[in-house]
Amino acid sequence: METSRNQQVKLEEIESAGVSLWMKREDELHPHISGNKFRKLKYNLEEAADREYHTLLTFGGAYSNHISALAYAARVNGLNSIGIIRGEELATRPDLVTENPTLAFALSQGMQLEFVSRDIYKSRHEEEFVDLLRQRLGDFYLVPEGGTNDLAIRGCEEILQAGDQDFDYICVSVGTGGTLAGLINSAGPGQEVLGFSSLKGDFLDKEIGKIAICKDNWRLVNDYHFGGYAKINEKLISFINQYYRSTTIPLDPVYTGKMMYGLVDMIRNNRFEKNSRILAIHTGGHQGIEGMNQKLKKKKLPLICVGDE
Ligand SMILES: Cc1ncc(COP(=O)(O)O)c(C=O)c1O
Repeated sequence: METSRNQQVKLEEIESAGVSLWMKREDELHPHISGNKFRKLKYNLEEAADREYHTLLTFGGAYSNHISALAYAARVNGLNSIGIIRGEELATRPDLVTENPTLAFALSQGMQLEFVSRDIYKSRHEEEFVDLLRQRLGDFYLVPEGGTNDLAIRGCEEILQAGDQDFDYICVSVGTGGTLAGLINSAGPGQEVLGFSSLKGDFLDKEIGKIAICKDNWRLVNDYHFGGYAKINEKLISFINQYYRSTTIPLDPVYTGKMMYGLVDMIRNNRFEKNSRILAIHTGGHQGIEGMNQKLKKKKLPLICVGDE
């Protein structure tokens, strides 16, 4: 089974609070299929091969980590890939596609991109819509948005390793909740799993309850989404840059940056008992930094500076 190292995070506020914090560097598992994508795709790729599919189809936004990882994984596994991308404006603006680092990478891996309106995109969970896609694009193995399904959750159950049973808290950032569900399932007795929501909305509680084994060892932290999915501000950028300078750990602005901002804030405010041992899962997402920096540049905001100084 693939393992990643736990890196201790040493910051003044952590020491003052009398707790210890570690990051599980799942982002180092693979340069293109990093973090939770590696875990989520593992058994789905096996299943697609066992069932002799030639094509993977999935859904995502224009900067999606999942789209990028699946495009790469399909190519190296000798499969075709199709990405149904939210945003019909991209269909008539090839310049926007080639300027977008995520989509340009997906294209370079041979992914066929199909752009749909935000309205049509909402049908992505409907069987009728998927049938229509099959009629138009041929047969495919369907990987849902964000890669989350039962096989993905099974993969995410492998994130925690034997030595990790000593931690009191396991923290992870939450989009669809698949990674959190895997951790809830595999957490040991006495461990609490905290999911840091990267988007607004209390619906996630219900969604995660549906997909994880029925356990009461987890809770969602909803205070650090910064206004919603992919919304960021100067405070968050400054935190990500400072964190990188102090720890050498790069964070992404959509998921892990928000989680660590929240976690350090909670530690500073003594929300954990003294001597707590906390493990935060680094779920990757570095590929999204370039696209975010393009947007920040246009808005004349400070850039995320991680990795290339
Ligand atoms: C880097 C990163 N971290 C965390 C998440 C959240 O994972 P999940 O959708 O399983 O909640 C995602 C999205 O899939 C992601 O790309």
